[in-house]
Amino acid sequence: MQKKITRAVVPAAGFGTRLLPATKAQPKEMLVVVDKPVIQYVVEEAVQSGITDVLIIISDGKEVLREHFRPDEELERVLEAKGKQGELEVIQSLNHLANIHIEYQHEQKGLGDAIFCAEKFAAGEPFVVLLGDTIIEAERPLTLQLTEVFAEKKNPVIALQQVPLSIAHRYGVFIGEEVQPRLYCGTAMVEKPPKDNIPSNLVFAGRYVLTPDIFDALRNTVAGVNNEIQLTDAIRLLMNKRHVYGWLFDGERHDVGNKLDFIKTNVLLGLKRPDIGKQLRDWLNETKF
Ligand code: G1P
Repeated sequence: MQKKITRAVVPAAGFGTRLLPATKAQPKEMLVVVDKPVIQYVVEEAVQSGITDVLIIISDGKEVLREHFRPDEELERVLEAKGKQGELEVIQSLNHLANIHIEYQHEQKGLGDAIFCAEKFAAGEPFVVLLGDTIIEAERPLTLQLTEVFAEKKNPVIALQQVPLSIAHRYGVFIGEEVQPRLYCGTAMVEKPPKDNIPSNLVFAGRYVLTPDIFDALRNTVAGVNNEIQLTDAIRLLMNKRHVYGWLFDGERHDVGNKLDFIKTNVLLGLKRPDIGKQLRDWLNETKF
């Protein structure tokens, strides 16, 4: 029987320049959405999808991403002494969420280069990638949807969403043929195409299942858009020798790496929380903006 995918890679080494100065001394993946840092939503999605080991790729100074998942005995002791049982459980649940591993990407040479840092961790097995600044809301965790497709197709699978053509130049763009409802077999892909030459409105949504041959492809990938090693370019190389699938998922993608979407995500997820949702909705309805 085919082994289940249990390893996830979360690239989180970027500077977060679109959110400066908030991200000057704090990783964007630690920014709070309602009451949890973004990285926790991402790791929770992985865990809900059967992942046991998560490698977070960081740059120097972003060690707080690891600290968030480490036991804090002093804090636990204080909460216990104060009888704050609810808070204690919340904190303790993080201790065993997943085995968290850390690898450093010392120079910011692109998403492809970040994934390359995961070669040892992947240990020759398929793995998933979850972008650390993207929260996905879906009825079934998106990473689980992708690993199920992978179990059937045994080839890389990329989460896709449809966007208006006018903004597709901001993304990796996927061109393919629909082979089953929502499932596309790729024929081409391009990272951030020029605005006047957008080949498709299907774009990469920040979740991938990759096979270990991606590392050889990355070794052979030269710098592309923005002079960075692009993951999209390496996946395109894989397409010379195997199928690559795209899965058009049903759900919402929240990119918290820019100001507007960061605020919208807080409002949208806040509205869904039982403790503050109703009050937030009432306030939005009552306030004359
Ligand atoms: C990255 C990927 C791109 C993808 C996007 C999704 O781009 O390179 O293919 O569509 O994430 O958020 P970035 O947003 O880091 O420029």
